[in-house]
Amino acid sequence: MKLLDGKEVSAKLKEDIKREAAELTATLGRKPHLVAILVGNDGGSETYVASKMRNCEQVGFDSTNLHYEDDITEEALLAKIAEINQDENIDGLIVQLPLPKHIDPEKVTEAIDYKKDVDGFHPINLGRMQRNLPCFIPATPYGIMLMLDHYGIDTAGKKAVVVGRSNIVGSPMSILLARNSQPGNCTVTLTHSRTKNLQEEVLQGDIVVAAIGKKNFVTGDMVKDGAIVIDVGINRETSTETKSGFKLYGDVDFEAVAPKASWITPVPGGVGLMTIIGLLKNTLEAAKGTVY
Ligand code: GUN
Repeated sequence: MKLLDGKEVSAKLKEDIKREAAELTATLGRKPHLVAILVGNDGGSETYVASKMRNCEQVGFDSTNLHYEDDITEEALLAKIAEINQDENIDGLIVQLPLPKHIDPEKVTEAIDYKKDVDGFHPINLGRMQRNLPCFIPATPYGIMLMLDHYGIDTAGKKAVVVGRSNIVGSPMSILLARNSQPGNCTVTLTHSRTKNLQEEVLQGDIVVAAIGKKNFVTGDMVKDGAIVIDVGINRETSTETKSGFKLYGDVDFEAVAPKASWITPVPGGVGLMTIIGLLKNTLEAAKGTVY
């Protein structure tokens, strides 16, 4: 078993981004600029957005976190997005999900200018991704593809089983793995809560991507020998063992699955770090104007 080491890959790619950002800043006369909107006080979302902002600063981007109370109206949020869309000094805009129930995430997603949609959630980016056209690719699937690429893993012709069909990870991941590209060219099965005989399906996977959001959901008896296992889970539980007061668990039972896998991502230290890289790369591309 070999580790797909998010720490190592993300550190290397971050250096590349930092260098490119410095060059671009010299040309543009300003730094690439990402704005993140956060609504409410979800502990996980606050941590993720803080990490995104910190990473922007580390690679020489400007970053702005707009934090609103959870009673902000949908109208006010949409008005803020419209204002940012018009601001030529802002390259990328993300709205952290989930949003409070009274705000329609579809309206918010479609309100963001697709040219600034560095989360790659807008239907235009999603459609262009499916057609293999220049676009912004959702950060987590993008980060996973960068990791497979870094380790030179030849995915062509392999059977990939994605567990979970979310808009953020599972669905776009299935599209990317099926595309005519390297990494890609997989035969993809997208499984979800209504899938029958899930164990049988996952056992077919040469590549298994677990993005279901349930601690230790993928067990040793669900994975075939030699599989490449990508764990997207970041399940937070309170813990007295760690300084932060939280402990993270993946969607994969690492102890049981790792001995069977040819490659596997740890949690933490795997996909989570690569998600940040996907977002930074998209923001850099937005500032460069190379996608649109
Ligand atoms: N919530 C969980 N993952 C993400 C992400 O990648 N982007 C945004 N905006 N919200 C999220």
